Amino acid sequence: MSERKQILVTPEEMEEQRQYIAELRTRIEGKGLKYHIVTYGCQMNVHDSEKLAGMLHEIGYAETGQMQEADLILFNTCCVRENAELRVYGNVGALRAYKQANPNSIIGVCGCMMQQPEISDYIRRSFPFVDLIFGTHNLYRFPCLLLQALDSNTTVVEILDSEGAVVEHVPTRRAKGVSAWVTIMYGCNNFCSYCIVPYVRGRERSRHREDILEEVQDLAEEGYKEITLLGQNVNSYGKDLDRQYLFHQLLRDINGVNGIERIRFTTSHPKDLSDELIETMAECKKVCRHLHLPIQSGSNRILKAMNRKYTRENYLQLVEKIKKAMPDISLTTDIIVGFPGESEEDFKDTLDIVEKVRYDSAFTFIYSPRRGTPAAKIKDEIPQEDKKERLARLNELVSSISHEKNKAYLGKNVEVLVEGPSKTKADVLTGRTGTNKTVNFKGDPELIGRFITLRIVEAHVFSLVGELLKDA
Ligand code: SAH
Ligand code: SF4
Ligand code: F3S
Repeated sequence: MSERKQILVTPEEMEEQRQYIAELRTRIEGKGLKYHIVTYGCQMNVHDSEKLAGMLHEIGYAETGQMQEADLILFNTCCVRENAELRVYGNVGALRAYKQANPNSIIGVCGCMMQQPEISDYIRRSFPFVDLIFGTHNLYRFPCLLLQALDSNTTVVEILDSEGAVVEHVPTRRAKGVSAWVTIMYGCNNFCSYCIVPYVRGRERSRHREDILEEVQDLAEEGYKEITLLGQNVNSYGKDLDRQYLFHQLLRDINGVNGIERIRFTTSHPKDLSDELIETMAECKKVCRHLHLPIQSGSNRILKAMNRKYTRENYLQLVEKIKKAMPDISLTTDIIVGFPGESEEDFKDTLDIVEKVRYDSAFTFIYSPRRGTPAAKIKDEIPQEDKKERLARLNELVSSISHEKNKAYLGKNVEVLVEGPSKTKADVLTGRTGTNKTVNFKGDPELIGRFITLRIVEAHVFSLVGELLKDA
């Protein structure tokens, strides 16, 4: 594919969106209007919400944490599992009375769930008070769509099924702090048999090197210390472009950006994790010693049915190679239990691989059939009770290994980047190690944004407790 053909959104169209923003600003600015965005799903969606927030700020809306005082409420949805969708229906439905009391307010629903035509139709029909519905491919057109919604009595709906656009220079309002998300590619080509993401996010499209580096440079200048590169499968970054420039090369270039001290990335598909990437990670000081490497199942039979394109043996060899190059690496994963046809033996293979790899932590899920995916056509005969029981057994094992791994930090000195106040206690700060461990400690808020060394004094399943060194 030619590099240029990929960009369907022309500078003229982006200019048009900027004009809509300017037009909206003349109507909105100074009125004290507020917005509230509710985001479901993965980091990509969180980052998309940062773009929606960026556009809203340019228009003159201010953010509010209270949905009930917002003039514009947006739900940025996820459809990866059924429970994510059910929450959206519940929360949108609950706004019926609010809309009656506030007829001038705008309610919008966007994101992955809306890319399924039957679902966006259902939302439009069941919740006629929703003003605006749009999908993932036309996020950058939000100013134009908002303008239409403000002037219309019916629901404005725009869902594009074309996925060609890689849009640059969308205003973005990132969460304050030390860490920023940077999307390096959109979409997914893998079609794991259970997964809906390729259907709602389209094929893989990588951003150009120059655009990514410019963004990272800007973030460094704004004071961000850590960046997390995002993509459904970052290991295939660049393969859709003409130029021979792949993920490990991008990592090396970002490692050279002054001011950025830590680089993280997610997600890595095991089948595409190259030797060059392992080498680059080991060599580049700023690349964190943490790899999220979803296994999904430890059974070869189930991995095949999932269309994951690796075996447990391939995966274990890969882990060995990674641990050899970086003995201090922390490994995390995603696991699905109860995939159709998963027997007790298959599940035991999953427990076995968890014990062999000894993950630092894992996200574990009960399989959820997704309409339109190949797995949804396989009869799902495992009783829900059994799935829940397997999940509980798996979680128990994962937690006990996490706890043991955390206990190995006791008495050690670790470097953390201080992120901010802890979520639970007022006088406690929280920082993260390169290995992605959260460490809580008592310290002066002045330390936020700095790298400091802590001695670990307590180890829990999900976090560590540290103390400032006396001479620090
Ligand atoms: N691209 C990433 C993340 C995809 S979604 C990756 O490949 O790892 C995040 C996780 O949700 C997946 O890793 C998988 O474990 C889980 N997931 C996806 N579809 C699911 C489904 N239908 N049911 C249950 N879990 C699912
Ligand atoms: Fe889904 Fe598989 Fe793509 Fe991940 S790699 S987004 S699990 S299809
Ligand atoms: Fe969900 Fe879409 Fe992410 S389906 S997991 S929000 S890509």
